[in-house]
Amino acid sequence: MLNLTNIQGNILRGYASFPHAQFLFFAIDNADDAKAFIRRLLDMEAVTPALWRAKPDATLNIAFTFEGLRALGVPAESLATFPSEFQEGMKHRADELGDIDESSPEHWDDPWRTHRVHMLITIYGRTEPALAAHCQRLRDLLPNGMQELKPDQPAGQLQIDGKLTRKEHFGFEDGLSNPAVEGVPDRDSKDRENVGNPDDKGRFRKIPLGEFLLGHPGDGGELAPMPLPHLLAHDGTYLVFRKLEQDVVRFRRYLEQQADAFARAIPGGLPPDITAQDFLAAKMMGRWQDGSSLINYPERPGKDRRNTFGYAGDPAGARCPLGAHVRRANPRDALGFGGKTMSRHRLIRRGIAYGKFLPRGEEPESQETRGIIFIALNSGFDQFEFVQQKWMNFGDDFEQGNDTDPIAGNRPVIGGRRSAQMMIPGDEASGRRPFICFDIPRFVTTRGGDYFFVPSLAALGLLASGRVVA
Ligand code: HEM
Repeated sequence: MLNLTNIQGNILRGYASFPHAQFLFFAIDNADDAKAFIRRLLDMEAVTPALWRAKPDATLNIAFTFEGLRALGVPAESLATFPSEFQEGMKHRADELGDIDESSPEHWDDPWRTHRVHMLITIYGRTEPALAAHCQRLRDLLPNGMQELKPDQPAGQLQIDGKLTRKEHFGFEDGLSNPAVEGVPDRDSKDRENVGNPDDKGRFRKIPLGEFLLGHPGDGGELAPMPLPHLLAHDGTYLVFRKLEQDVVRFRRYLEQQADAFARAIPGGLPPDITAQDFLAAKMMGRWQDGSSLINYPERPGKDRRNTFGYAGDPAGARCPLGAHVRRANPRDALGFGGKTMSRHRLIRRGIAYGKFLPRGEEPESQETRGIIFIALNSGFDQFEFVQQKWMNFGDDFEQGNDTDPIAGNRPVIGGRRSAQMMIPGDEASGRRPFICFDIPRFVTTRGGDYFFVPSLAALGLLASGRVVA
């Protein structure tokens, strides 16, 4: 049974109407002080569940790393029941996650490089003053036995031409496709656009709650392994936090360099009003910048961003390349077997941009960085690690060999060759020739992050009481 008042916010429903965010990081030196701090936050009713009585001006959510749970005094018998990836932490999963070269942990930003964060507090505000006031209230409550780790991480929806948008820094509409989850009532048309996994009749079926929340049956009817005690785990989830820096100048420069050659592969020429750069960028992403899908609109952006599409009708990738980012990240029906292969491979994404948008043609100021705070939620880190390892940083499932994701993948050297190419299949119908993007540089670099446990509200109460018994 789904109890929305026990589940922290930003899991089953996003905070789209809260455009400003702040991520605060803490170390726990004294467990009793930390428990008292959690109690105070709960007393303030500051921790927002998935269901509000009245919409607040700002939200507040709490998550812990494994070291954080230990510092809070959770007993060893309980700690030992948490997943091994969580126990190790993200830094120690660098090989599995492909965090190599510039992305490797020794190059990360603070606080990730020098500290092991214990507690993450995420605050979203409807306005900047509301966000600042909420952060201040929280900092005023901080006890002596806890310290805030610096720097904090501001983030927010990107302002372009003075307007708030849902775009990411490469210019694409983001936050369009999330899993439709069984039992979660749709709130608006945006929720209705979410898709589950495809069935064998060409429709989508909602995904069981247990793929995303602990203590509920998953896609095969089974419960994901649960840490003990069950009261601690039930209605909780795991959060992947990754600071992903985007090199916008490099991305735009690469598109420019390829533009003429790509345009020559299109015999009838480019569709009117479409630049070769925009067409090529769409082929890499699998959607046009306005969010419309290449499956529905293969030649030019369409008038809608419909999300109910599949790839089975485009087996060779003539419309959406087999190696495009969104096709790799959620292959939908492309892998056959009535969509059953998608179990345990879906992620709820709640990413938000950081840094200022760089208008086209402008050079960035030195030291200025930008990217996404990538947030994925799942009932086991196997879900995120699978997508990251097998689909972002490897291409075999899509007949792409060692080639990595053109947008978010790393660029390892394998057999003396840097696997940095992407095949854009041709299209017999229009006579478009195949085009290979060679020597794609790295556009996205990991700058920090960790694995977190997001307890339910009841579990936060249990942690604050100090009565966790495995
Ligand atoms: C800076 C890096 C990244 C950028 C700029 C980026 C951008 C985008 C954009 C523009 C979309 C399409 C809009 C949408 O469906 O919401 C998308 C979809 C998606 N991305 Fe990424 N992404 C990045 C990294 C990642 C990573 C690392 C993963 C997973 C490990 C990932 C997983 C997904 C998933 C699952 C979807 C939804 C696909 C679908 O359901 O059709 N992304 N991304």
